[in-house]
Amino acid sequence: MEKLRIAIQKSGRLSEKSLNLLKEAGISLNNGSRKLRSVAQSFPLEVIYLRDDDIPQYVEDGVAHIGIVGENEYAEKACEVDLVHRLGYSRCRLSIAIPKSEGYGGLEDLNGKRIATSYPVILENYLAEHGVRADVHVLSGSVELAPSIGIADAIFDIVSSGSTLISNGLKEVEVIMKSEAVVVANRNLNTEISKLLDDLLFRIRSVLAASNNKYILLNAPNKNLEKIIDVIPGMKSPTVMPLAEEGWSSVHSVLSEKTFWEVIDQLKDLGAQGILVIPIEKMIV
Ligand code: PRP
Ligand code: ZN
Repeated sequence: MEKLRIAIQKSGRLSEKSLNLLKEAGISLNNGSRKLRSVAQSFPLEVIYLRDDDIPQYVEDGVAHIGIVGENEYAEKACEVDLVHRLGYSRCRLSIAIPKSEGYGGLEDLNGKRIATSYPVILENYLAEHGVRADVHVLSGSVELAPSIGIADAIFDIVSSGSTLISNGLKEVEVIMKSEAVVVANRNLNTEISKLLDDLLFRIRSVLAASNNKYILLNAPNKNLEKIIDVIPGMKSPTVMPLAEEGWSSVHSVLSEKTFWEVIDQLKDLGAQGILVIPIEKMIV
């Protein structure tokens, strides 16, 4: 039987979360994450550990069938691969930053400036689209040092917490793209491998849905039951059971993390009591 080969970042901002996602999807690996590859126990899957920059090309070439990579690398490498799923973690942005002490009046200020980056493709496209003519210097690392050593006037790089910029005396002036972890896939997968990919994506969706949702139980006064049900529609509709005490019902449902506090406030205003919120382990969607 064939195995689905997935490329994952060897070490860095994506690797731990990606391995954790697989684990939550019920796929255990016998790591040693320093290894080059490992084989899963409970799913026909093999993990290859690579530098994130190399993942799009390896997937295009079919060395790996799929890969988990930052959207930034997917965009930069412009490889012939399909983005098949967004994963919502390792969020960051790609921004232009300049020395803190400099003024900034807008993109046109970058005309004639030297910008250091490891993402020349994304940057050149953006500058061309906006009619800015700057000099793009490609560096493979430590881009944030370029202005202070005098080889660039600005940088274009990943910003996550922003602390790298601060500690190098830089300020963010333009956000050019937002990025998160994504799954990319080779475009010529055979039927067997495509089926394995579908199975894996199904599991991943269940894990992501679970982490974005909470199970909620509460006691509702019957006079407000309909309004309370409107506030928490649930997956299909909430479960409602009468309480032993007359005039009250127990309501069970699923709440999205996004609107969580808003909904809780509304429920309290509608007289809900004994609200319990429970994490969901998996959600089959
Ligand atoms: C990026 C980027 C900055 C840092 C920004 O490097 O080059 O150095 O992260 O993060 P912060 O805003 O939280 O300080 P990364 O660690 O991803 O390494 P890589 O660019 O070599 O993949
Ligand atoms: Zn990298």
